[in-house]
Amino acid sequence: MGRSVTVAAPAKLNLALAVTGKRADGYHDLASIFATLDLVDDVRVAPHKTLEIRNTLDIGPGEDLAARAVRAMAAEVKREPYAFVHIRKRIPLAAGLGGGSSDAAAVLRALATLWKVDADLVRLGANVGSDVPFFAAGSAVALVTGRGENIEPLPKPREPLHVVVMRPPVRLATAEVFAELRPDEMAQRAHVDALARAFRAGTVTPETLRSHAHNDLLTAAQRRCEAIVSWRAAAAARGIALFLTGSGPTLFAVADDRRDALRMARILRRAGLKARPHVAAA
Ligand code: C5P
Repeated sequence: MGRSVTVAAPAKLNLALAVTGKRADGYHDLASIFATLDLVDDVRVAPHKTLEIRNTLDIGPGEDLAARAVRAMAAEVKREPYAFVHIRKRIPLAAGLGGGSSDAAAVLRALATLWKVDADLVRLGANVGSDVPFFAAGSAVALVTGRGENIEPLPKPREPLHVVVMRPPVRLATAEVFAELRPDEMAQRAHVDALARAFRAGTVTPETLRSHAHNDLLTAAQRRCEAIVSWRAAAAARGIALFLTGSGPTLFAVADDRRDALRMARILRRAGLKARPHVAAA
């Protein structure tokens, strides 16, 4: 098949997320601290005579962000939108982990290399999906605002962040959760700003993360998804606070270090919750 380019596409966690308002275009403005996670898809892109996307998971009907990324880059450089894209999926679908958006950003990056173009991938990514600019920017941690198109890269923490990630086995559509959100549940931006300041100052600790891991979408997500309520209650009964990433349903706990992450994962698994230790912002 000739030369190809492979790009690692990491998942993300929203360490804090505020919905700051509803926009005229139907989307919502956000302020959120995004961090990459050590859970990655492999995205391989090669020249091809048509547009062909292969995925090791059945992504089902609906719009494929990887195909949209190829079309966006092709339109930008006035080429035919032809490429072969192979995605080895490890990031679960519709989970709040940004897998589809990260794959799309990886496609943009791979095409920039293959086609030797110097395009603004963050701007192109904004037309592909709300979470794509963060991944296109390539920063491990960022303050993300607007619909997702404004990216302020933040310094990585001195130590990697040890977390435990849990995914209730249900799919929860982002649009469904935003539709459920009530106006009085928006704008807890103080937590996002406090966390951004701590990252800029290099003073982030697990305790800082736990005290600011607020997500404005949690209440709406809980109304749409009973598993989020019961998993958080089961963890709380064992002294572990669970936070929501994106619009869910994936939840995470913040550990003090690797040992603590292993300990928490063990406790949560014993309670019947599928829990895995991970590292964020590495
Ligand atoms: O951008 P994406 O296609 O992932 O968004 C899915 C849906 O989630 C949108 O159609 C919209 O209803 C909602 N959304 C929103 N505000 C955002 C991101 C998503 O209202 N910033």
